[in-house]
Amino acid sequence: MTDDVLLDVRDLTVEFPDDTGRGWVRAVEGVTFSLRRGEAMALVGESGSGKTVTSLAVMGLTGATGGRITAGTVTFDGEELTGGDAKRWRRLRGPGMGMIFQQPSRSLNPAYPVGDQIAESVRRHLGLNRRQARARAVEMLELVQIPRAAQRVDEYPHAFSGGMCQRVMIAMVMACNPRLLIADEPTTALDVTVQERILELLRDLREQTGVSLLFVSHDLAVVAELCQEVVVMYAGEIAERGTASEVFYRPRHPYTAGLLAAIPNARHRTADRRLVAIPGGIPAPGGWPVGCRFHDRCSFSEAGRCDTTHPLLDVDRARCLRAPEIRLEGVVI
Ligand SMILES: Nc1ncnc2c1ncn2[C@@H]1O[C@H](COP(=O)(O)OP(=O)(O)O)[C@@H](O)[C@H]1O
Ligand SMILES: [Mg+2]
Repeated sequence: MTDDVLLDVRDLTVEFPDDTGRGWVRAVEGVTFSLRRGEAMALVGESGSGKTVTSLAVMGLTGATGGRITAGTVTFDGEELTGGDAKRWRRLRGPGMGMIFQQPSRSLNPAYPVGDQIAESVRRHLGLNRRQARARAVEMLELVQIPRAAQRVDEYPHAFSGGMCQRVMIAMVMACNPRLLIADEPTTALDVTVQERILELLRDLREQTGVSLLFVSHDLAVVAELCQEVVVMYAGEIAERGTASEVFYRPRHPYTAGLLAAIPNARHRTADRRLVAIPGGIPAPGGWPVGCRFHDRCSFSEAGRCDTTHPLLDVDRARCLRAPEIRLEGVVI
């Protein structure tokens, strides 16, 4: 691992209790990626593919959701956090890494003014006094471009729209100067125009602060604007990864090509549109097919091969046995 790697996730496997409560079922398996300092990486895939489980594992919050990490490592800034003392992880949440979620209103406490909530966070993590913390709260509301920050700092969450609540959440997380920001579907609950503004804000923040970004989304169109690296997840594992231009222009996994084909208004590079909709649904943990986990939804699947052999990711950018022999349609971004 080189010095410029901020986050290194290796062979991460996460399990949850199964329906009987007696056994465990894998939700994420063998996930490996690393994020360099200042980089923006996307984690994409349909709902249920394991993106949030992966993100929470990076934050050290798997136990809090009833799960456990059964294999693999999470290393942050050269420090391996898995297998160690939970205190180290707790110490890093805030000043090291912070996370924002799809529903910002649920992460804010309706009973306190937003400024108090930001101030509380910086007092705890950065040891600022009351006056400094309040000044920091106003400064952060300005940073996330909330108009009239000096007044709005005293308002309660209900006085903020969905987009403004998400800005407050971003302010709260960024107030501690984290090196890593994890944004889990931060715009999914918002209107399209508001979504665009939040993406612009994240882009500005990255430029101003140099924060590294792990951006989680089911929407590849959104990812294209923000991220240099893309990790595509399917059924708890990485299906494909690469730079944004590799993944968008020259996808190597039929699943990725299917996601790309579903982007409205994308300029497709060839006329072959047979993948526009991916038939079927994502298999649940415990129900992953033998062989390639995508084979039963894949128009390139080959009997006797794709339904028997689980492809490795190491040999190629994509976890697809047929990747070397098929040509998939990319999109122009
Ligand atoms: N706390 C939990 N307990 C049991 N199963 C969970 C839990 N959290 C997530 N899962 C399961 O793990 C799988 C991946 O979930 P998740 O990471 O939330 O998907 P997404 O890619 O949509 O973020 C889903 O099938 C989900 O039901
Ligand atoms: Mg999720």
